[in-house]
Amino acid sequence: MSEMQHRALRIHHDDQDHRCELTNVGMQELGEDDTVLAIEYSAINYKDALAGSGTAPILRRSPLIGGIDAAGHIVQSEDPQLQPGQVALVTGCGLSETRDGGYCERLCVPADFVIPIPEPFTPRAAMILGTAGLTAMLSIQRLQNNEVTPDRGPILVTGASGGVGSLSILLLHRLGYTCIAMTQKQSEHARLRQIGADEIWEPDRLEHNGGGLASAQIAGAIDNLGGTALPALARITQPWGAVVSIGVATGMEFAGSIAPFVIRGVSILGVTSANCPAPKRRDAWTQIFENIQPEDLDTIVTQTIDLENVSDAFQSFLDGQASGRTLVRIAND
Ligand SMILES: NC(=O)c1ccc[n+]([C@@H]2O[C@H](COP(=O)([O-])OP(=O)(O)OC[C@H]3O[C@@H](n4cnc5c(N)ncnc54)[C@H](OP(=O)(O)O)[C@@H]3O)[C@@H](O)[C@H]2O)c1
Repeated sequence: MSEMQHRALRIHHDDQDHRCELTNVGMQELGEDDTVLAIEYSAINYKDALAGSGTAPILRRSPLIGGIDAAGHIVQSEDPQLQPGQVALVTGCGLSETRDGGYCERLCVPADFVIPIPEPFTPRAAMILGTAGLTAMLSIQRLQNNEVTPDRGPILVTGASGGVGSLSILLLHRLGYTCIAMTQKQSEHARLRQIGADEIWEPDRLEHNGGGLASAQIAGAIDNLGGTALPALARITQPWGAVVSIGVATGMEFAGSIAPFVIRGVSILGVTSANCPAPKRRDAWTQIFENIQPEDLDTIVTQTIDLENVSDAFQSFLDGQASGRTLVRIAND
């Protein structure tokens, strides 16, 4: 009898070739790890767009099924905590980097990667969050752990209309922070206010390539942009505040003054969600699920597309035009 086939979007990336192909795969091709999930939803993150377009060498081997996020239900697991039918999610953990990812009807992973989704959340709600939500929460935990608490002053979020940006604003608002959203998109102002932004900044309000220090206006920041935005944020951060560096949308280099660090005691804190240790990952997901409701997430979804349309959607992310979260419907079985 022929093996059951599962639809997948596979990325081929090497020196000679870059392409995405819709294909069918059998379970044998998906590895031998102890937990199998039937995937209902995935999403598109900036990193998925980099991997899927070949713009950056995200894939460390080729070919691989794309998708750094996945959510669905357990089909089988050797872990007694993961029962068939239970809803669960996986983010990062090498998906679409070193192993097959979530753009497939089945995902085979070690049980340790899997985060159960608590009621009343669904796989769809979990994918509105996905890597973007985890990164936002890890960033806020970095602020909390460095005593940047809500009473200290506002937190500025750059690239605010994107996935990490929108979810950072939602979570900051829920956790009692005053929040400033910086976006290049006028069309997103109303949506950002709706999810919790108290104030909106146009990008030109942030003075790039200025001096060492400027008037301290924020207690902290979550920065999606990198490049010259990161030192510009440090320059306007209050004494003992902190800027969390999470994104590189506008550049990898750090070219700025160290005055904020040595004169104001400002810190720059890093976050990497892809290889976040399991206990930290679980702790962040617990804090997310405790502080929001599924209905809070509806305004974050801007589109839901099918697997067939995923590769056409990558360019808008690379152009900085994506907003909110793009869900990928994998299956509804
Ligand atoms: N460190 C980690 O663990 C981690 C995890 C996830 C993501 N990231 C990084 O975080 C960033 C955001 O990821 P995401 O998935 O949320 O991406 P996204 O949904 O595409 O959002 C990125 C946002 O950044 C702004 N932006 C993008 N390109 C720009 C450009 N060239 N100039 C100015 N602004 C630009 C835009 O916001 P506005 O139009 O509102 O300004 C855009 O919506 C990416 O750099 C990604 O690689 C890091």
